[in-house]
Amino acid sequence: MITTSIQKAVEALNKGEIVAIPTETVYGLAANIYNEQALKAIFSTKKRPAFNPLIVHIESINHLEKVAKNIPEIAYRLANAFWPGPLTLILEKQPEILDLVTAGKTTVGVRVPNHPVTLQLLSELDFPVAAPSANPFTGISPTTAQHVFDYFEKDLNVILDGGPCQNGVESTIVGFDSETVILYRHGAIAIEAIEKVVGQIEQVTSSSEIVAPGMLKLHYAPKTLTLFTNDLANDLQKYKGQKVGLVLFQNSIATLPELQQEVLSQKGSLEEAAQNLYAAFHRLDAQNLDFILVEKMPNHGLGKTINDRLSRAVH
Ligand code: TXA
Ligand code: MG
Repeated sequence: MITTSIQKAVEALNKGEIVAIPTETVYGLAANIYNEQALKAIFSTKKRPAFNPLIVHIESINHLEKVAKNIPEIAYRLANAFWPGPLTLILEKQPEILDLVTAGKTTVGVRVPNHPVTLQLLSELDFPVAAPSANPFTGISPTTAQHVFDYFEKDLNVILDGGPCQNGVESTIVGFDSETVILYRHGAIAIEAIEKVVGQIEQVTSSSEIVAPGMLKLHYAPKTLTLFTNDLANDLQKYKGQKVGLVLFQNSIATLPELQQEVLSQKGSLEEAAQNLYAAFHRLDAQNLDFILVEKMPNHGLGKTINDRLSRAVH
């Protein structure tokens, strides 16, 4: 059930249960990183394939060396600049970190989430938690406790409610090749912001290449058939008579019912658009539409992250 009691979440996690937790990006499905049964429950609940590793959430940078080792100086610079916050670092793992967390890799993904409720929760636990986004494999990530409830009502005793997520898209993921920073996943921190701290970073060029499994082609996908539109007026004419939903950046279409349209940011803020993105898909997906047409965002800053998610949502 949905609760605001941090104590209930602490008790459940101590018992080895999985618990939904709020973060600034999306809700996570959390378990004790040292409890194999609990970690297995994350995979079975999400129907997530075992080759897809989990992100470890720690309460502060002071706990980083418990999970990672041989940490490059540049990683500390990023952690100091962005933690608590939506930046996940892929680092060499400590030997105690279980294969279930890392999918057998020698590296571990780690971040300090920037959410007061979850930071309080972590400070009351004797262990970090592993938490993927709290959605079934390939589904749309949840940005409210209600989204999690709709997915996993039967599977979870505790869904910790921390309100709607501030950022609304997943963390940016970077790895390291000695002192070079490599982008693995676009996310809530724009590349431009990272480059201000560490200079130019390397970007994974081919979008079909699976570097982090979160880069899987069809991911973050609504159940409703979803397509890009480059010429909205023309497409609406072409699909006349069908029930079409729209995901738009700034402006709605006067001739369509408002319920079927999701304008992500009237004022044209890419941050606000990111915050609204998944909730928009959740609402449209609940309407039994024939399909959803999505408009590309301006391709800079968080627009790159939104476009990345849109390209994985289209069928
Ligand atoms: O914002 C977020 O990152 C959210 C919240 C809950 O923290 N979590 C999240 O987790 O998005 P998930 O599991 O949906 O995505 C984690 C991504 C996966 O694509 C996974 O492949 C990648 O992180 N990842 C984790 N550990 C990795 C590693 N050692 N090497 C490469 N990729 C890794
Ligand atoms: Mg996910």
